[in-house]
Amino acid sequence: MSDTLKLTGITKVYKRGTPAEVQVLRGIDLTVAKGEVVALVAPSGAGKSTLLHIAGLLDTADGGQIEIAGQDMTGKGDSARTAVRRRDVGFIYQFHHLLPEFTAAENVVLPQLANGVPRGEANARARKLLEDVGLASRVDHRPAALSGGEQQRVAFCRSLANAPQLLLADEPTGNLDPATSDQVFSALMQLVTGTGLSAVIATHNLELAARMDRIVRLDGGVLT
Ligand SMILES: Nc1ncnc2c1ncn2[C@@H]1O[C@H](COP(=O)(O)OP(=O)(O)O)[C@@H](O)[C@H]1O
Ligand SMILES: [Mg+2]
Repeated sequence: MSDTLKLTGITKVYKRGTPAEVQVLRGIDLTVAKGEVVALVAPSGAGKSTLLHIAGLLDTADGGQIEIAGQDMTGKGDSARTAVRRRDVGFIYQFHHLLPEFTAAENVVLPQLANGVPRGEANARARKLLEDVGLASRVDHRPAALSGGEQQRVAFCRSLANAPQLLLADEPTGNLDPATSDQVFSALMQLVTGTGLSAVIATHNLELAARMDRIVRLDGGVLT
């Protein structure tokens, strides 16, 4: 079983809001092989975030099946979902969401401590990850003292802190200017291909999408 993510018939309806009911996902089938990097391309409002949140166990679907790293998550309770999310899934948001009162290194250490990694080991891994994305001289800076591109690179390191099998990134360079976006995206691709993990990366930048292994388009609630 070499698929890292398998979504089958995923549906999602939002019942509150205007209009009262929006069917965002109408039966999503997606399989991501080990080591594969998939671009999820769609215009704003098409449901990219909804799909990534469901795949990352941050939100629940109304129907369908989710398998992550060979584990069937269908009908699983909160504690099983949390355990798999913590161990096997890394998530990157458009905005970095780093903890402002902690340094870059500490932001990468904390998820490891939550996962039971000893502090010394967590610290060494955090520094190594930050070095890998060119931030060796920034490890002890707080987010406010970092540029937007640096903040996002720290967020990449945080998402990989617990060596997940699946990385989900929701427009990870969407907040950056084009030149920075390109650099930061290269850093992300280097991290991903260096570890052999599987990734789904949402973007509406077709140039970035073309650098991934495969492009899927979300249109009318289904993938094409
Ligand atoms: N919590 C929510 N409640 C109601 N509607 C929502 C909610 N989240 C998203 N939506 C709606 O679902 C659709 C898809 O949103 P989203 O997944 O954020 O799209 P994208 O990430 O592609 O921009 C949009 O029409 C949005 O307004
Ligand atoms: Mg979105």
